[in-house]
Amino acid sequence: MEEVLRGLKAEAEASLHSVSDQVGLEEVRVKYLGRKGLLANAMKQLAQAAPEDRPRLGQLANTVKQDVERLFQAKKEALEAGSQTVKQQLDLSLPGRFIPSGKLHPVTQVMEEICAVFEGMGFAVAEGPDVETDHYNFEALNIPAHHPARDMHDTFYVSDSILLRTHTSPMQARIMEKQEPPLRYIAPGKVYRCDSDITHTPMFHQVEGFLVDRQVSFADLKGVLTLFTRRIFQGDLPLRFRPSFFPFTEPSAEVDIACVICKGSGCRVCKQTGWLEILGAGMIDPAVMKMVGYDPEKFSGFAFGLGVERIAMLKYGIDDIRLYYENDLRFLRQF
Ligand code: DAH
Repeated sequence: MEEVLRGLKAEAEASLHSVSDQVGLEEVRVKYLGRKGLLANAMKQLAQAAPEDRPRLGQLANTVKQDVERLFQAKKEALEAGSQTVKQQLDLSLPGRFIPSGKLHPVTQVMEEICAVFEGMGFAVAEGPDVETDHYNFEALNIPAHHPARDMHDTFYVSDSILLRTHTSPMQARIMEKQEPPLRYIAPGKVYRCDSDITHTPMFHQVEGFLVDRQVSFADLKGVLTLFTRRIFQGDLPLRFRPSFFPFTEPSAEVDIACVICKGSGCRVCKQTGWLEILGAGMIDPAVMKMVGYDPEKFSGFAFGLGVERIAMLKYGIDDIRLYYENDLRFLRQF
């Protein structure tokens, strides 16, 4: 009997030791200290012990019971104190932690939008090198050495014949010389010019576009560009084609859109003209066609080149191009 009592104590002690929550603790309590528990059971059996052993065994049983109760109480308090600290650490009223997530740069966003509009019209996307040869950047586009049009470009030269491309137009020649018409391409990318003020940065983005097929006319160019501006500026703003000159197109035009801010009545953004210039375009010059081996009698095509930063400035009413490249998060987060 004595052994049984001591065994029960050791067992209860071990069980309490390994308990880790209130549910486990209650199970241990019921098992050892409950009304039908192991200790109560042992007490009952005392009646069968020899009369002379009963007082001693009875005392032992009481001590064991008290010890187990004490251990139980201590464990209970320890568990409660533990959950209290967890509660104190966990303030459910605190606002959640903000996990910052990156976003695409506004110029990238507008670039992707522009590409998506042209892809919707069946144009394929091609990309070319930023470090370009004089041949593709100028010669193949009908701008020979000493041509005055070279002055417009403020070129960064790497060597006599290597440069940072000043426009995306070299992609016209690169694609045409490798493929036969019909062709319908856009070429987005970075371009570089030694120029910096509120409307110019030394690096900016252009999207070149061109289409070559049989019997392509200026009307096709107008149709494509009209649809493009409607989609990008989400409105039916009138377009204006002003005669212009580019060595690689004939005829050439600069295309204006009715001012997105004042709708044509005149404001600060359009300098009271009611119009905003958005791109250069024209019919691909027969001289360019011949250089890539196309017969200009058989094929014709149009081309256009637009500045992405400029389109984004007009779309969002931004008046200083340099804001795009200062990396001020207060500016960038607005997009
Ligand atoms: N490459 C010209 C520039 O950067 C823009 C341009 C004008 C592209 C007319 C064209 C075009 O394709 O037809 O100033």
